[in-house]
Amino acid sequence: MTVAAIILAAGRGTRAGGGLPKQWRTLAGQSVTERAVRAFSDHPNVDRLVLVVHADDQVPDHLAEFQIAIGGATRQASVLAGLCAVEGTVDQVLIHDSARPIVRPDLIDRVLDGLRDCAGAAPALGMRDALWTGQAGRVTDTIRRDGLYRAQTPQGFRLEAILAAHRAFQGDAADDVEVALSAGLDVAIVEGDEDNLKITAAADFDRAARVLGESMDIRTGTGFDVHRFGPGNQVRLCGVDVPFDRGLQGHSDADVGMHAVTDAIYGALAEGDIGRQFPPSDPQWKGTESAVFLAHARDLAADRGFAIGNVDCTLICEAPKIGPHAPAMQDRLARILGIDRDRVSVKATTSEKLGFTGRGEGIAAQAVATLVRR
Ligand code: CTP
Ligand code: MG
Repeated sequence: MTVAAIILAAGRGTRAGGGLPKQWRTLAGQSVTERAVRAFSDHPNVDRLVLVVHADDQVPDHLAEFQIAIGGATRQASVLAGLCAVEGTVDQVLIHDSARPIVRPDLIDRVLDGLRDCAGAAPALGMRDALWTGQAGRVTDTIRRDGLYRAQTPQGFRLEAILAAHRAFQGDAADDVEVALSAGLDVAIVEGDEDNLKITAAADFDRAARVLGESMDIRTGTGFDVHRFGPGNQVRLCGVDVPFDRGLQGHSDADVGMHAVTDAIYGALAEGDIGRQFPPSDPQWKGTESAVFLAHARDLAADRGFAIGNVDCTLICEAPKIGPHAPAMQDRLARILGIDRDRVSVKATTSEKLGFTGRGEGIAAQAVATLVRR
C-alpha cells in the first residue's frame, strides 16, 4: 500500500488572531506547519506528501522540497486540491490539519492499521466531562456521553473512495469523515491522542508549548581539533580548498573545521568522536574525505530521531585568511548536513600570535552543535 499525506495549511487562522496565520507561527522553535509536515515525512510508511497552502502565502525554503498545492476558500476545497494533486499515484491518503502540530508516529500507525479493513479510519477521543445543553446561561438538559467522540486528524481513506466522495459532496463539512459518511463509506474509529491538540485560539499556543516542553529533548555537543602544517599548496577547511603556501597533515584530508563540527554532533549524541567511529588504525579510512565522517554523524543523529538545530565552528589560525571563504564553507556544511545555511556558522579568529596557532605551526578548530528531538 502506498500512502500520501495531505497537510492542510491554507486557512487564515482568524480565530487565533495575531499577524501571521497560526500555521506559520513559531511553536517551540519550529513553525506549526513544519512540525506537522515532519511528523509525516519522517514516518516510514508515508511515501509522499502534499502541502496545501494559501495562494497569498510564501512557502518557506525548508518546506520547498515537498509538493505544494494551492488551497481553496473552504477547508473542503483545500482538501480537494490536495487529493487532486495525488490522484492516481497512491492507494491511501492521510488528511491532516497543520493546526495540529503534535502528531506522534504511533497515532499515524493506528490510523493506517484501521485502514486495513475499512475505507476510512480516523482518530477520536471519548468524552470525559459530563455534557449539557444550555441556553441563556441556564442548563436546559443533560446528554449521555456514551457513544460520543471528539474527532481528530489525520483522517485516513482509500484515495479513490474519498476523492469520489469529495467530488460528489454538496454543502459544508466539518471534516473528511463527514464527507466519507455522506458517500456511505465505512470509517473505523481509532484511539486519538490528547496531545494531538488543535490550535484554534491564541491560548492554544501556550497549551501546545507546554505539551512540547514536557517532551522537548535538546542535546548540545562540542568538538575540538588541531592539525599541523606541512608541505603543500592548499588547506581544506570546512570542505573548501583554500590556496596557501603550506598544507595540513593528517590521516584523512585533515579538514580540521569539518572534524570539529563532526565531533560536536557525535558529542551531542554521546557517541565519542571521529576516532572512535573511524579508527585511524584501520587503513581503509586513510585519506578519507571528511564529508564522509560528517554525513555519518548526520545520519546517526537522524537515526536517533534528532534534527540538527544549528552548528557553529570557529577556526583558529593567523593565516590563511578565512573571511573571504567563510560563506562557501557555510554552504558546504549546510549542504552536507541537509539544513538551511542560517543554521550553520563558520567564523575565525587569530590567537594574537600566541601559542602554536600564533606561531603558525597549525590550525585549531572548535565547534558546537545543538540537536533537537523531532
Ligand atoms: N484550512 C485550509 N483551507 C481553508 C481553511 C482551512 O487548508 N480554506 C486548514 C487550516 O489551515 C487548518 C485546518 O484546515 O490547518 C483546520 O481549519 P481551522 O482550524 O478552522 O483553521 P483556519 O480556517 O485557518 O482558522 P479559522 O477558522 O480560525 O480562520
Ligand atoms: Mg476555519
